[in-house]
This record gives sequence, structure tokens and C-alpha cells, in this order.
Amino acid sequence: MISEDLELAATLLANDEVVGLPTETVYGLAGNAFSEKAIERIYSIKNRPKHHPLILHISQNYNLLNVVSELPAKAQLLAEHFWPGPLTLLLPKSKKLPNSVTAGNAQIAIRIPNHPITISLLNKIDFPLVAPSANPFGSISPTTAKHVHNYFHKEIKLVLDGGACQKGLESTIIGFKEGKPILYRYGAIALEEIEKIIGKVTVFNRNDINPEAPGMISKHYAPQTKIILTNNIIDEIQHHADKKIGLLLFNQEIEHPSVSVQINLSPTGNTAEAAANLYQALHQLDEQKLDLIIAQRFSPTGLGNTINDRLERAAKN
Ligand code: TXA
Ligand code: MG
Repeated sequence: MISEDLELAATLLANDEVVGLPTETVYGLAGNAFSEKAIERIYSIKNRPKHHPLILHISQNYNLLNVVSELPAKAQLLAEHFWPGPLTLLLPKSKKLPNSVTAGNAQIAIRIPNHPITISLLNKIDFPLVAPSANPFGSISPTTAKHVHNYFHKEIKLVLDGGACQKGLESTIIGFKEGKPILYRYGAIALEEIEKIIGKVTVFNRNDINPEAPGMISKHYAPQTKIILTNNIIDEIQHHADKKIGLLLFNQEIEHPSVSVQINLSPTGNTAEAAANLYQALHQLDEQKLDLIIAQRFSPTGLGNTINDRLERAAKN
């Protein structure tokens, strides 16, 4: 059921059940972080491998020290600047929190989401929520209640409706190694914005032989339809002229007989608008029974890096 019933959501969560909920980034599949039963259920509903830890969501009033054992100075600066908001910090985990939340990892990923409905919900309950994105493992993240309903109406009783997600891309994940900040996932806050607050941040290399962030797998956020990401749309269309093609464009339109549908992510060339529309557009194109989606690569600055990251992963074979 899709509804705005906060009381029902709070009751279900207090009874170890899993609920779909809106955040400013994407919809989450939420459960009580102190309930082994809820955690187990989230992994099973998402069909998520057990070694992928869960992000913790807390309210502004929640005592961080219940779940985190220390807060590095740069983490504190970022938290003051970006919370509530689409920033996830990887911090040393408190022993009080079940190990299953972090899949045995010594660090916990944590954020304060900035969506009025989820803020109200977190203020109603006295426990934090774990909430991975509300999609089956590997598929496109949901940015509307309907997306979540389509994925999981058989498995969950309630999706809290908070409209379309304002940011439309997952949170930016920052961790620390020997006090030095590391970007683990490009996200809804551009890296440049983070660097304005804490200086140079190293970008984690996901091709590292021993990846520390288990979620950094390359194939992810993927529609069923094959995707090609390119700087040269026209060349790719000509190369695949015998196919039924869908285009994902930024700030342009293209006429070609092989193109049966095209979505312009932002007619005015605004990357924040493009980011907000990206997953909705992928969901939409994926429903069209196309042979191929050709997506335009963004210029690699600001949110362009996040959009390219998601499209690259969606395009991986
Ligand atoms: O915007 C978001 O962050 C959304 C909304 C719902 O808050 N959540 C989200 O969760 O994107 P999820 O589970 O789809 O992505 C979290 C990523 C995963 O790749 C996971 O492996 C990684 O963060 N992660 C979570 N906890 C971690 C930890 N303790 N150590 C390393 N990586 C972690
Ligand atoms: Mg996800």
C-alpha cells in the first residue's frame, strides 16, 4: 500500500517490519537498526549479498555516540555543514550496534536524511533506521513511491509516500583513513562542495585489489535494457541503426529514424535537474522494450561526475 500514514509506519517499524520510505536522495527500505529480524528481512527482500553493509539513518536529536565510537574533526565539520542532507559518513562503529548492520565491518555508514516525512517519522520512534535503497540488488534505484511499490508490493505492507525525490541520486559517501578523507561513492553532493569544507579528498579507486567498500561493485543501478554511454551520440546511433533505440540526453534533441524515444534530462542544461530526473528516466526507458539505450556522457565536474558514475555502472556488461 502507498500511503502517508506515519502512525502506521512507526507501528510497523516498532514490530520489526520493513517499510519503504522517502528521502531527499532515493527511497529506502527501512527497518529498526536494533532488530536482527528487520535486518535479516531487508537483506532477503533486496536479495542483497550478506557482506554489503547497511546505511544508518538518524534524526537530528539522536545521540550519535549511541552508534558511533568517535567523530574525527573533519567528519564533524562535514556533519555540521551538510546534515540533514545527502552526505553519508563512514565512522568507527559503537559496540552497541548489532554487527549485522555493518556486515562485520568496523565502520558504520550514517546520515541524517533531509525529507520532511522521514524526519517526522524518525522523531516519532526511539530507534535509528537502517535503509538501503529500495530496489532489488543491482537494479535501478527508486525515486518515487510507485517505483518501490512496483518492486516490492508483495513483500512489504507500506510505502510511505513523499513524492518524487528532490535530489534523485544517492548520498555522497565519505570515510577517513589515518585522518585523511576518502570519497567512497560519488553522490548528490558534488565532490567540489565537500572539498570547499575540508580540503582535498582522495577518490577511492574501485579497481583496487582489496576494496574496502563492498558496495563499490561496478555493475549496479542497471536497467534490463542494454546501455551504451558515449561522448558521441550520433556515431553510436549510426553504428546501431538497425536497432530500436532510446536516447538519454542532456540539453539537446536528436532526430533520427532509429530513435523511437528520447528523454532530455534537462532542457536548460542544469545538472541538478538532470540528476533529479536520471533514475525516473531510466525506469521509463526500461519499460519501452527497446533494443538499446544510448546515454550521453556528462562533462566530468560537479554532479556530472555522479551521473557519469551511475551511467558507467549501469552500462557495465
Ligand atoms: O542516499 C542514500 O544513501 C540512500 C538513502 C535511502 O539513504 N541509501 C543507499 O543505500 O544508497 P545503499 O545500501 O543502496 O548504498 C549504500 C552503500 C552500499 O554500497 C554499501 O555497501 C555501502 O554504502 N556501505 C554501507 N555501509 C558501509 C560500511 N559500514 N562500510 C563500507 N561501505 C558501506
Ligand atoms: Mg543502492
